[in-house]
Amino acid sequence: MSIPADLEIKRQVRQFYNQVGWQRVGDCCYQNARYEDLRPVSREYIHRCHTRVLRHLAPSGSFMLDAGSGPIQYPEYLEYSKGYKYRVCADISYVALQEARARIGDQGLYVVADVANLPFKEEAFEGVMALHTIQHLPQSEFLQGYKELHRVLAPTRTAVVVNRWQSSILMRVFYPFMFLAKHLLHVYRKITGRHTFLKVEIPPERRNDAVPPTRTFIHRHNTAWLEGEVGALMLIEILVWRSVSTRFLRTLIHRRIGGRWFLRVIFWLEERAPHFFGTYGQYPLVVIRKP
Ligand SMILES: C[S@@+](CC[C@H](N)C(=O)[O-])C[C@H]1O[C@@H](n2cnc3c(N)ncnc32)[C@H](O)[C@@H]1O
Repeated sequence: MSIPADLEIKRQVRQFYNQVGWQRVGDCCYQNARYEDLRPVSREYIHRCHTRVLRHLAPSGSFMLDAGSGPIQYPEYLEYSKGYKYRVCADISYVALQEARARIGDQGLYVVADVANLPFKEEAFEGVMALHTIQHLPQSEFLQGYKELHRVLAPTRTAVVVNRWQSSILMRVFYPFMFLAKHLLHVYRKITGRHTFLKVEIPPERRNDAVPPTRTFIHRHNTAWLEGEVGALMLIEILVWRSVSTRFLRTLIHRRIGGRWFLRVIFWLEERAPHFFGTYGQYPLVVIRKP
């Protein structure tokens, strides 16, 4: 019997996170952190971007939904649910939930669930977030994902969704510089023998495939789709989470050439024009409001 394409996508995504994405790499992080810039020079900027999520979530309540919680991988993520009695972690990866439990224990409720078919009643949550999760849904279920987040959100409360745009005009302006810097860095690393990639070792009990996947399904949408399709059904506001991509950070931001100051300026600009940078930058922060 053949598996429908959409189900097969979800099976692959789950397999990827169980076997690769949420495997620990050394003491510091998960394999998934490979897609983030963890260098000290970018730390302050990334930390400040993480804290933006807090501004748009009600500070307290009984239940907060973290849809596609992963393992609650960054310390800032713990702050989001501090004022809540329970943080409900819903994820299709059981490894994500095991790791999340190790982090927040009894404050968490852990549910293997699909964000496009949430097993919760209407208006059950006073706070809802889905950070980098919807992008893993098959294209045909994108809208359903947003509808589900809206359905389970309590009246007068807000949900926060963060994803990456398919393409960012702002980042495209910097492509030639990134391209050049990437090649210069490549030469520099070859000469100095420095490598920054994280290598993952999959423990034997989680190796149930001959060849573990190296990447997984991601589909990204654009502003027109979000405003047209989602905006027609619910109140949304596009703000900025982070306007620059990880590639931008890794290629153009360096301590010795004033990288930290450059990022301070970028953050300052983002704060002045959050809608502009959310729309044209790399990562929007979408606030869903329920009247
Ligand atoms: C990129 S990770 C982000 C994790 C976390 N939100 C964060 O920002 O660190 C995506 C997470 O979404 C989960 N996920 C993917 N598709 C999902 C779906 N259809 N329903 C629920 N969770 C899903 C994955 O298992 C993974 O843990």
